[in-house]
Amino acid sequence: MCSIWCVALGVLALGAAVSGEGRLSAEHSAVWGPGLRAEAVLPARYFYLQAVDTEGQRFTSSPGENAFQVKITAPDEQFTRVGVQVLDRKDGSFIVRYRMYASYKSLKIEVKTKDKHVAKSPYILKGPVYHENCDCPQEESSVWLEEMNCPQVFPQIQRDLANFPVVDPDKIAIEIPQRFGQRQSLCHYTIKDNEVYIKTYGEHVGFRIFMDAILLSLTRKVKMPDVEFFVNLGDWPLEKKKPPQNLHPIFSWCGSSESKDIVMPTYDLTDSVLETMGRVSLDMMSVQANTGPSWEDKNTTAFWRGRDSRKERLELVKLSRKYPEIIDAAFTNFFFFKHDENLYGPIVKHISFFDFFKYKYQINIDGTVAAYRLPYLLAGNSVVLKQDSIYYEHFYNELQPWKHYIPFKSDLSDLLEKLQWAKEHDEEAKKIAKSGQEFARNNLMGDHIFCYYFKLFQEYSRLQVSEPKIRDGMEKVQQPDDDLFPCTCHRKKTKDEL
Ligand SMILES: *[C@@H]1O[C@H](CO)[C@@H](O)[C@H](O)[C@H]1NC(C)=O
Repeated sequence: MCSIWCVALGVLALGAAVSGEGRLSAEHSAVWGPGLRAEAVLPARYFYLQAVDTEGQRFTSSPGENAFQVKITAPDEQFTRVGVQVLDRKDGSFIVRYRMYASYKSLKIEVKTKDKHVAKSPYILKGPVYHENCDCPQEESSVWLEEMNCPQVFPQIQRDLANFPVVDPDKIAIEIPQRFGQRQSLCHYTIKDNEVYIKTYGEHVGFRIFMDAILLSLTRKVKMPDVEFFVNLGDWPLEKKKPPQNLHPIFSWCGSSESKDIVMPTYDLTDSVLETMGRVSLDMMSVQANTGPSWEDKNTTAFWRGRDSRKERLELVKLSRKYPEIIDAAFTNFFFFKHDENLYGPIVKHISFFDFFKYKYQINIDGTVAAYRLPYLLAGNSVVLKQDSIYYEHFYNELQPWKHYIPFKSDLSDLLEKLQWAKEHDEEAKKIAKSGQEFARNNLMGDHIFCYYFKLFQEYSRLQVSEPKIRDGMEKVQQPDDDLFPCTCHRKKTKDEL
């Protein structure tokens, strides 16, 4: 799943000897990533900077928060409505991200250090360079997949769809509402001619906004296949039948080894991608720039905060009370086990997620289902101890225990032992933390999430043996029409050229 940018880094690594950080070199430093390509439309575009010194050695700590200056302008315009942030990852690399509020004919990205252009700066993105809200789909899906640098396969998609040799939209349109429509909250979607239609089932359908948003965003970027499917808005996966029973394809945010739901990136991760540099503050980029003190300076008490949504979480807090110097775990909210508050309380104040990374050992433990914080925990510079669990998000099965995280038993019986191991094997633990971070960087950024969704719907659509239809009671999901700076789409022959 690692794309050409890893190669770019690999080449650098060859030239880089072990230690010693000399003077920052404008020409040796590296700049790479999807944000340098006009066609890779993302809510927040981004690219990486790696500081390299005059000897060709990579920096492994920050050369200074303001070591690089980045300026983004549209040469043909008086004003460029672009928000830019340079995020210091404190490991010698930076993430530069920018959110465009209008589309431009071209974009000029200047990256400088002390007035000298870095690497091949200035980068000219020959446009049109479309912004997130521009409704301008690439008609050719194969071109889009290439422009986005999407991986050929996602193993989880293969695994999930293997349970469904064929899908008959006419059949599921009747059977799924009959089977689940009474008690569950479901959305029935049809995408036809790149328009999104929906019918909801159940009372609690507020979470449809996340699904609507990603589908609309996708159809603005790429021509989606005609496809009909059901999304489960609840926490738990639904399809508990096993072949050769008649399985129903249900798209869910959480999978489990005891069900056959088709997993998608969680609503939380999806929303954070769509709202990066907007309404949300925690996303896969901001977290990489807020990873707390260096490894050596982190507090060696293991850390956890959360809600009381599962019994094992009570166990964890109990352990923490018994061994406060080993584990600092506390509830920020009591809801499910209110009568036990005197046993496990008092509740403590919320702390910023970024402050989690003051601690070296992060405990990941299921909530109602999988704990949707895992992507962010992996992206930080701490090592994750992950509870064994039947629940998973779309990427868990690609994670390897002892490589990307330290596993512990679902009943927590070996958690103390595993923490002891981590303390006695600090170098290994540090390496696991690094691999986790790299996994997050290479698999969980916005472009990967868009790729995953698109591939999922594309592969699923190929299984359909009848025509997806706009069913009775479906309504069209409209694109937002409140954009301040409407764009002109050059891809549609029917519209005027600029
Ligand atoms: C580490 O964290 C624990 C628990 O939060 C705290 O009690 C302790 O004082 C911290 N240690 C240091 C050295 O700051």
